[in-house]
Amino acid sequence: MKNLKRTIMALLLLAVAAGCKPSRQQQVTEALQKGIAIAADGFKANAAACDTMNRFPRTYENGVLVTVDAYDWTSGFFAGDLWLAYELTGDKELEVAARKYTSQLYEIKDFTGHHDLGFMIYCSYGRQWANFQEPEVLQIIIDAANSLCTRFNPQIGQIRSWDFGEWNYPVIVDNLMNLEMLFFASKMTGDRKYYDVAVKHADTTLENHFRPDGSSYHVVSYNNDGTIESKGTFQGFAHESSWARGQAWTVYGYTMCYRETGDEKYLTHAEHIANYIMNAVQTEDKIPYWDYHDTAIPDVPRDASAAAVTASALLELSTLTKDEEKSQTYVAYAEDILLSLSSPEYMSEEGNGNFLLKHSVSHKPLNSEVDVPLVYADYYYLEAAQRYLSLKK
Ligand code: GLY
Repeated sequence: MKNLKRTIMALLLLAVAAGCKPSRQQQVTEALQKGIAIAADGFKANAAACDTMNRFPRTYENGVLVTVDAYDWTSGFFAGDLWLAYELTGDKELEVAARKYTSQLYEIKDFTGHHDLGFMIYCSYGRQWANFQEPEVLQIIIDAANSLCTRFNPQIGQIRSWDFGEWNYPVIVDNLMNLEMLFFASKMTGDRKYYDVAVKHADTTLENHFRPDGSSYHVVSYNNDGTIESKGTFQGFAHESSWARGQAWTVYGYTMCYRETGDEKYLTHAEHIANYIMNAVQTEDKIPYWDYHDTAIPDVPRDASAAAVTASALLELSTLTKDEEKSQTYVAYAEDILLSLSSPEYMSEEGNGNFLLKHSVSHKPLNSEVDVPLVYADYYYLEAAQRYLSLKK
């Protein structure tokens, strides 16, 4: 009798414990809510810190907040961070700051000096448009799309990335991320030219930047007749290695191309890349080393920014794939990433220059911004949070 009572008590305790244990979905949601709150406070502090500078926070290194001017490829992410934080909290103070830092980017709508206008304008003005549909904002995005198209060479079928260096016509795989603004411009104007440039760029990248396993070269350079001059890397460990953020841009890019075109080849390719990433990233917490093939692994930095981009991409891919099992795998993988990024190892509750995430890498071969917070890591974490919180579960 005594034993039976003990057993019942033990079972009751177990049941209570099981009932109280939050589900994985609750766990992730709580982690994200915490991240959003920290981000909102930090972004407000940096908005105030840069108030009169006409510059944009990029990173925090050696105790110093590093800011950039409007022409830097990262200039649009701080406004994007503020917009995302506003969208996730409804806090009017964030909207005011987002408007201010977006408006400071006005002049770059006519900039044609490199390919990053999609990042710069679509993450800032694009978000303002998504929230408020103001006609003058739409015109700025269309002007920027026109500027970006000036870098497209129809014979090569690619938008030229950079004007520096020894390459004849360099195109980096990151460039896929600029196409979303072109798809948007076509939808809003009814003019197919932006769509055609985006599709041609995506197709040529698909043909030339990838290895059979789904990994990608960072830089492909072309001769003037469209033949290949070289394939290799600039920001990665080696020409034949997999630079983590490059892999992340590609799964994000082709997922977005499928959303915008409905072309099945983009979906197949995005799934192929996702599969590659999920197999190739060997870390337990799913935050990749900055390059999957650095020969000094495990004694090399992780890249939280690559993880954040991947999580955001996989969450969108989970809503587009037609295979339920794949969908669940993508969500589970993104959840793992988001839980890791929301842990004290990667998320800062104070310090860190008011950025949210620690441990990103910008350009390891140049030893530039290694193991630091980066404004775009925060952007894709918040975008992933937004995508996760709006999943139909
Ligand atoms: N070019 C953007 C990056 O560093 O990922």
